[in-house]
Parts: sequence; structure tokens; C-alpha cells
Amino acid sequence: MTIRPIIIHPDPRLKTRAVEIGAPDDEIRALAADMLETMYDAPGIGLAAPQVGVMKRLMVMDCIKEEGAEPRPMALLDPVVEWSSDELSTYEEGCLSIPEQYADVERPAEVEVSWTDLDGARRHERFGGLWAVCVQHEIDHLDGKLFIDYLKPMRRQMITRKMQKLKREKARA
Ligand code: NI
Repeated sequence: MTIRPIIIHPDPRLKTRAVEIGAPDDEIRALAADMLETMYDAPGIGLAAPQVGVMKRLMVMDCIKEEGAEPRPMALLDPVVEWSSDELSTYEEGCLSIPEQYADVERPAEVEVSWTDLDGARRHERFGGLWAVCVQHEIDHLDGKLFIDYLKPMRRQMITRKMQKLKREKARA
């Protein structure tokens, strides 16, 4: 397994819709393993393939945060939101592609998602709490959408300018 570099906003790959995978092969399984390792290393609770420059509909997540609890690494191929609750909830979101920036985002409190697992089986689960936030945030990535796209333009531009500055500084270092 390899830790892959995470793309920082702004980048056209983060604004592009990723393509369906269909049946998983060894390359996709290796990518999922790399993405989980990259996510845990960051550390983060979710990561989408476009964030490591692969324009395929694959996301990983593990929202277990309790100290000493068993991890639950999940890899979702071609995830689809099948149902969203009318009830909304607000969570202060962040993103590994927008480091150290956080903002409140309102989303459906619960969602039902279907996806293909790494063995090629279609799966279905209802997510609530942090899992619901994370799975919706990552599926947005697969559609070229970032959490800052939910913010008012002024705030979004301010964050984007900070990221441009960060990237300039990194390039010089
Ligand atoms: Ni993100």
C-alpha cells in the first residue's frame, strides 16, 4: 500500500465529474487500499478518488472516532443516494483538499446509499450522524462538488484565496 499525494483546491480535477467503475478489478482494489491508507495517515474520515487524481467513482470512509473502538474501513464504488431525509442537520465540515478550513454545512440528516463493494456485490445501507455527513461529502466529490460550494460566494472566495496562497508557498518550499 502507498500513501498518495492529496490534491489541494483549487484544481480542475476537483471540479470534474468522475466516471462509473462497474465491476471492480485488482487495480481498483489496490487503489481503495491506497486511499484508505492515505486517509488514515492524513488523518481524515473520508477520501474520494478525484482527491488523489483518479477520476473514478470510488470513495473510502471510516467514521469510527471512539478511542479503542474497532475501525470500520469502507470502500464504496459507484455510490448512489437512493433516499434523503427531509430532516436536515448542520455539521462543521472540513476537507483534506482544503486543509485547516472548516464551515457549517446543512445536509439531509439521514441518507440511504447503494454502492458496489470490492467483491462486486451491490450493497445498501442507511447512514445517520457523522456517517451521513461523510458519505454525502464524498459523493459530492465524485460529482466535482466541494463543501465550500455550499457557502456564500464571499466566504468561498476567501477560502480559495487562502488555498492559492498555501499552494504558492508549498511550491516555493
Ligand atoms: Ni473532502
